[in-house]
Amino acid sequence: MNNNITSGFPEGFLWGGALAANQVEGAWNIDGKGLSVADMATYKANLRLDDYEGHLAISSDFIEKARLDKSDTIYPKRRGIDFYHHYKEDLSLFAEMGFKTLRVSIAWSRIFPTGEEEKPNEKGLLFYENLFKEMQYHGIEPIVTLSHYEMPLELSTKYNGWVDRKIIDYFVHLCQICFKRFKGLVKYWLTFNEIDSIHRHPFTTAGIIPDRCEEGREEELVYQALHHQFVASAIVTKDCHEIIPGSQVGCMLTKLTTYPHTCNPKDVEITLKKNLHNYFFADVQVFGEYPVMIERMLERKNINIKMESEDRKILKENTVDFVSFSYYMSLTESAEEGLEKSAGNTIMGVKNPYLPATDWGWQIDPLGLKISLIELYDRYKKPLIIVENGMGAKDKVESDGSIHDEYRIKYFREHFKQMKEAIDEGVDLFGYTSWGCIDLVSAGTSQMSKRYGFIYVDQDDEGNGTLERKKKDSFYWYQKVINSNGKDLS
Ligand code: BG6
Repeated sequence: MNNNITSGFPEGFLWGGALAANQVEGAWNIDGKGLSVADMATYKANLRLDDYEGHLAISSDFIEKARLDKSDTIYPKRRGIDFYHHYKEDLSLFAEMGFKTLRVSIAWSRIFPTGEEEKPNEKGLLFYENLFKEMQYHGIEPIVTLSHYEMPLELSTKYNGWVDRKIIDYFVHLCQICFKRFKGLVKYWLTFNEIDSIHRHPFTTAGIIPDRCEEGREEELVYQALHHQFVASAIVTKDCHEIIPGSQVGCMLTKLTTYPHTCNPKDVEITLKKNLHNYFFADVQVFGEYPVMIERMLERKNINIKMESEDRKILKENTVDFVSFSYYMSLTESAEEGLEKSAGNTIMGVKNPYLPATDWGWQIDPLGLKISLIELYDRYKKPLIIVENGMGAKDKVESDGSIHDEYRIKYFREHFKQMKEAIDEGVDLFGYTSWGCIDLVSAGTSQMSKRYGFIYVDQDDEGNGTLERKKKDSFYWYQKVINSNGKDLS
């Protein structure tokens, strides 16, 4: 714990970057990997900023067609950036920047192709074992997300994903296999990436196919699936602690910090409710119980979550060790209809007149990160780690191969200043992994042109390119930041 009155980033601060298997690995159909829900995601040219929901729309018919389509032309997540074959080169670059940590995720269908096998696919396990050993060689501490938007497709089409309680057992089996195999290599684990995102994209997060849901019960089924994820998260937290003594397990929340548009109490009330609903997802994993106000809200909506008799005990007894979260932008809320909107992370908000925005319309708010850190630490009193933050932007490669991404450096610099201030004010922040430390396929839009990395990857939205890796200006800047443990942000 951060009890000493010192200034700045604590010694041993985990500086690094973050990736997700489905957005980088590629190799979607080799070495025994099965199809996952991510392999269904398509790229659409000329995407509009307010088109996210349409893009994510999914149906049983669409899945059937996509399943039979053996190409990767319109499915960029099948290609990723071929990290599967480039990981050694990429880890060397991360090590050159001085990374202390790297957040990666396990592709479930690489280990259990349909999710239902008893025995794991050895080639899948070996890939991750080699990856973690290579990290160890470079002195990079892995942070591993067990579920990041890529459950086996078969579990989605057969059971409607996490709506079915059986999925808990399949997931627990996957996790136990991982804990036993990677014991000694991995200490930090996250259970579900952005567990709250189930409400924004139920298929990507939980394999739920809208036309498989009984009409009028869609929302109820989403809460049911979420409950199963909460229970699964608690069980694997317990298993992880037992199998790997000294391991640390965290929950992962999309921190959707929301401001009232005005001081009209109606705006304040609606904003309060939005923020409480956002916290609910971490509350269950940190406090081990559903918040009373959420239980009341569910009752009012006539949503009846089926729970087994032991569920509440499982949740209460197996809470997380730390809280991790993503933070990209803040949102603004109003009780008034028809105000101008701005885009956000698979969510829209009222446009905030005080903030600039990225090329994708996400409003940049470094101070919002400090506010988020203070709120989260005050609420949970658990160590915090920022496991996603960054700026999706269009980058230009100059004729000499250089990439001058001053806008990205500015984004990071401003956010790091706020992190430092929050630490100085008493927040226990133990690490930071920037999102997409190497360019990757966008989760929301499947674009390659929405670049987050310190390292450029030569590939366009259609998959053309050599996959060559190039260092951007931000590469050298982040290297300096890490080397000075955040003291030099110039
Ligand atoms: C987070 C996800 O919500 O946002 C990542 O966990 C994702 O997987 C990131 O990539 C940024 O979103 P996008 O749509 O710009 O890729």
